Amino acid sequence: MTLLEVSDLTVRIGETTVVDGVSFTIDGGERVGIIGESGSGKTLTALSIIGLAPDEAQITGSILLDGQELLGRSDRDLAVLRGDRVAMVFQNPLTSLNPVMKIGRQIAEPLRLHRGIGRNDAAAAALELCKRVGLPDPERAVNAYPHQLSGGQRQRVGIAIALACRPALLIADEPTTALDVTVQAEVLALLDALIVDQGTALLFITHDIALISQVARRLLVMRHGAIVERGDVADLIDRPEDPYTAALVTAARRTTLDDTDELVPSAAAGVAQPGREGVVRPGTDPGTAVPPDAHIDAEPGVGPAPREVDRGTAH
Ligand SMILES: Nc1ncnc2c1ncn2[C@@H]1O[C@H](COP(=O)(O)OP(=O)(O)OP(=O)(O)O)[C@@H](O)[C@H]1O
Ligand SMILES: [Mg+2]
Repeated sequence: MTLLEVSDLTVRIGETTVVDGVSFTIDGGERVGIIGESGSGKTLTALSIIGLAPDEAQITGSILLDGQELLGRSDRDLAVLRGDRVAMVFQNPLTSLNPVMKIGRQIAEPLRLHRGIGRNDAAAAALELCKRVGLPDPERAVNAYPHQLSGGQRQRVGIAIALACRPALLIADEPTTALDVTVQAEVLALLDALIVDQGTALLFITHDIALISQVARRLLVMRHGAIVERGDVADLIDRPEDPYTAALVTAARRTTLDDTDELVPSAAAGVAQPGREGVVRPGTDPGTAVPPDAHIDAEPGVGPAPREVDRGTAH
């Protein structure tokens, strides 16, 4: 059952086309990754879906959620949807959290807004959510301000806020890039467990092809605002067809190569599937494959208007 259908999404800012005719779908409960170099339009694609693209962005195309067109909706309509049917976890939890509001209230807010839950019940639910996302000392955490928590704890709060209303779709835009490697693995495992539990679909944005192989089954590769290749993650790693994807895989191999010559031991086995828990295994190190800021240039000859390679496995 198609949950999200993005068709020919194009975002222009001034004279520049920053997202260029992007089309893809996500089924209910499905996990899809977007990978691409810095500036390739990943975040603007996500922000367009959730109605948070900057005011100066001109957006055309179509974004259907549950068959309903989102483009052209009023800010008020989109605010009603946001945090309810679709929610987002951002790269930097310190900037996405309100610095002057206690954690408990920030988690309770979507519940009050979207579910009409009263203050006390929402506060109790926020405390429960703090426990569910594994915040140490949850009673203290609800009364803390964001700056009083560690980076990993703040991202757990971001996840609690995003999942509070059990959205049908969670967009995670590099949710672990700002965290150190062991915390990354913990936060990913948490995300994985919660979305499996809630049947939430996931759109996961990253620079890291090794990481995405552990999180999503289907991958969209973006470059210069367009999708240049798409397909099953394990296939793309084994047989990348677009030179940019090949460059990403080569770069990831360079940093993760071990004696077995495997990019990711779990390239196929670790692919997340609905109903499977613990996709991110303790001890794996999803953060080291491609440094977060890695700028990987494709081979010469790849022009700015890439031709998309479609393996027929993705839609
Ligand atoms: N508010 C804005 N005004 C003008 N240009 C913008 C704005 N936001 C993004 N852009 C431009 O749009 C392009 C795509 O940006 P976007 O943030 O979607 O890239 P990204 O793929 O998420 O990159 P990164 O991996 O660095 O997060 C970039 O060239 C960026 O400079
Ligand atoms: Mg981005």
